Amino acid sequence: MHPAIAIDGPAASGKSTVAKLIADRLGYTFINTGAMYRAVTWYMLEQGIDPADTDAVLAALPSVPLSFGKDGSRSIVLCNGSPLTEELTRQEVNDHVSTIAAIPEVRSLLVNRQRDYNRQEPVVMEGRDIGTVVFPDTPFKYFVTASEEVRAARRAAEGLTDSIAERDRKDSSRATAPLAQAQDALLVDTSDMSIDQVVNFITDNIQQKLSAR
Ligand code: CDP
Ligand code: CDP
Repeated sequence: MHPAIAIDGPAASGKSTVAKLIADRLGYTFINTGAMYRAVTWYMLEQGIDPADTDAVLAALPSVPLSFGKDGSRSIVLCNGSPLTEELTRQEVNDHVSTIAAIPEVRSLLVNRQRDYNRQEPVVMEGRDIGTVVFPDTPFKYFVTASEEVRAARRAAEGLTDSIAERDRKDSSRATAPLAQAQDALLVDTSDMSIDQVVNFITDNIQQKLSAR
């Protein structure tokens, strides 16, 4: 089994930024699972499907023309063979992604795809349920967080409007695979840490665990 590094945490805590850099350092593939939930949400909206209409979402799900691939050492999502990019961070996607991500059938479809990546190679995967559900047996689990003020400021600095508090509330309270720190995950509060400090801290911890295996 290839190593799987699980990085979970709330919105705008810096998960993607640090996961990508850690993957580069280790030479592993970086997998952004949020992009997969965002892609399903974008597609439903494009089809005029109301994300709150679970029956309509489930009816469309089997024929969603999305595929999950790689561009170099990073995961990408394609729709009818074309990579999705800016579509995934649109405001309407932010507003509805937590509703789509709460549907158990959507989650099981995507979790299977996420596990497929690790069958081929070592991965650094970031999301909400990677340490709790996707790879519950991995010894490499990190819960990356920061205060709500710091997270809101980080999003604002990117010039993006994002409903982070609302998404976190929905993500933490859903019945299936809620956002939660795995019992055996290492908590990393990045409120007062630079990106470099976070990357060094987690990479050192991974390397210690790898050399002790
Ligand atoms: O990067 P950001 O924190 O804005 O969010 P993201 O990682 O792109 O995830 C977008 C949304 O997808 C989250 O708010 C969750 O509703 C959902 N998600 C999830 O349920 N499980 C995951 N493993 C990853 C994302
Ligand atoms: O993936 P997630 O939503 O958790 O966060 P992100 O999109 O990786 O990071 C949000 C913003 O915070 C980015 O602009 C990062 O450069 C910044 N950041 C930071 O300022 N300090 C950190 N320790 C981590 C991220």
